[in-house]
Amino acid sequence: MAILVTGGAGFIGSHTVIELQNAGYDVVVVDNLCNSSEKCLERVEQITGKKVPFYKADIRDREALEDIFSKEDIDSCIHFAGLKAVGESVQKPWEYYDNNINGTLVLVDVMRKHNAKNIIFSSSATVYGDPAFIPITEECPKGQCTNPYGWTKSMLEQILSDIQKADPEWNVVLLRYFNPIGAHKSGLIGENPNGIPNNLMPYITQVAVGKLAQLGVFGNDSDTPDGTGVRDYIHVVDLAKGHVKALKKLEDNSGLNIYNLGTGQGYSVLQIVENFEKATGVKIPYVIKPRRPGDIATCYADASKAERELGWVAENGILEMCADSWNWQSHNPNGFED
Ligand code: NAD
Ligand code: UFG
Repeated sequence: MAILVTGGAGFIGSHTVIELQNAGYDVVVVDNLCNSSEKCLERVEQITGKKVPFYKADIRDREALEDIFSKEDIDSCIHFAGLKAVGESVQKPWEYYDNNINGTLVLVDVMRKHNAKNIIFSSSATVYGDPAFIPITEECPKGQCTNPYGWTKSMLEQILSDIQKADPEWNVVLLRYFNPIGAHKSGLIGENPNGIPNNLMPYITQVAVGKLAQLGVFGNDSDTPDGTGVRDYIHVVDLAKGHVKALKKLEDNSGLNIYNLGTGQGYSVLQIVENFEKATGVKIPYVIKPRRPGDIATCYADASKAERELGWVAENGILEMCADSWNWQSHNPNGFED
């Protein structure tokens, strides 16, 4: 039996493929490479010493998915494939709803036809909107999202929950990620955003490597200890390991389950700059800019449910996250292009 990993050539997917293969699972990857490179999977093979069966296909392409399911013995899916750029989703809502929602509907339909009714879905802390309380537990009510990307996550959680309710043969795990950063210790794979990064850590590493002049800090007048935004950064390898634990939960026929994956620790933008400088010895010049529309002040997890029920806890601290992000970026200044 194999696990289908959609979006397995991407940032989180590729790290998860490694952890799955290390744990002895057979993996099949489907990715249309719209935000990734096949070279990433070659690097994964280099790291694990195992072949990664790969299909270049779009999950909205029903025939392509049917073909994969008829050739491979798939019983579960870890579903990463999706578009994820918040700003772009505001400009291109149709494209985001089509890719993320339509893609998932086609995937789930093909899965049920092939009696593979086990799915782990990549959700996000963004579904909490401006959270009702901090630290955020899974009981925190879902909130108003500020962009179409966030709504696709919120809606897909609802869709997958309804499908599981109607057919209890389904097992669904919704994983709400906080802020994944870091990279595999080898430095062979890591985050590789197109164009100018939207997210904090890739922006910092590109300043550090000299591709960007300085970091813009989006506001220092928020209601946080130093006025800059506070987030729960989690090492991508810890996040990947969370998926292996979640898979074990699926194997118990556990119905619907929701988990936060974070460290439970919040860091401000300035604390991230400070820790990055400490971990790497590289100075990050920055300038204070206006707040970014839609940003919330503080977001960090209570991740104790995942610890209690999955036996999962994040192991890497902020200095390791910074060092590993830098190790990847400094050895691969142009991502997988080199
Ligand atoms: P990523 O862009 O690196 O990976 C997504 C992968 O999906 C890419 O390789 C892309 O080519 C592929 N893809 C997109 N649409 C596809 C389609 N229609 N068919 C086939 N492949 C397709 O992003 P990531 O950071 O690895 O995120 C993985 C998942 O986790 C996404 O669903 C994202 O929304 C979610 N998530 C990410 C974060 C984050 O901060 N990185 C936070 C919360 C949730
Ligand atoms: N920030 C800056 N300058 C930058 C980039 C970010 O100051 O150049 C600040 C932001 O204002 C925020 C913090 O750094 O306070 C983190 O910002 P990111 O863009 O890295 O992350 P967000 O928390 O805004 O959002 C990310 C993903 C969302 C996801 C969310 C929770 O982009 O898709 O984490 O998982 F939903």
